[in-house]
Amino acid sequence: MELLVRSYLPPDREGLVSLWAVCGLVRPWNDPYRDIDRKLARDPENLLVVEHDGEVVGSVMVGYEGHRGWVNYLAVHPDHRGRGLGRRLMERAEELLGRLGCAKVNLQVRSSNEEAIGFYRRIGYSVDDSVSMGRRLEVDGP
Ligand SMILES: CC(C)(COP(=O)(O)OP(=O)(O)OC[C@H]1O[C@@H](n2cnc3c(N)ncnc32)[C@H](O)[C@@H]1OP(=O)(O)O)[C@@H](O)C(=O)NCCC(=O)NCCS
Repeated sequence: MELLVRSYLPPDREGLVSLWAVCGLVRPWNDPYRDIDRKLARDPENLLVVEHDGEVVGSVMVGYEGHRGWVNYLAVHPDHRGRGLGRRLMERAEELLGRLGCAKVNLQVRSSNEEAIGFYRRIGYSVDDSVSMGRRLEVDGP
């Protein structure tokens, strides 16, 4: 069956959070429901899902802040990995960002996530010589 890449719709909510959980992307300090709500309040068209047989089996979230484009929540369900879906999602992400005028795409990946790092390298990404820093403005959890 054809895999449909499309913008997020409200009925995708539980399936999307389940996908993120299965893919190891849910952390106690990031409430995934709040992350969805924050995205919907800003630019809902930039949250993409992949639908297969009524299930959410893939996702990617992109954002452009005027200087760089960011990719978050890239996920492919384990049953659908290794068939080019991750690459296809990243191509869609880059296409969306390119249309917004974005010149460079950045993403953050845990240094322990060797699978994702191997994937990103394979599709043309390289490690920047910079330190990632952050500070929370809203606390979602412990
Ligand atoms: C990372 C992830 C999205 C990759 O999805 P996928 O659909 O299996 O990837 P693809 O099949 O599109 O792979 C694209 C290319 O990368 C290669 N690749 C995939 N994983 C790789 C790895 N660990 N090391 C080296 N190459 C890899 C594939 O062989 C393929 O190469 P080819 O197109 O030249 O044949 C998926 O493993 C995943 O969801 N991981 C868990 C969530 C996660 O960690 N997300 C990233 C958060 S920052």
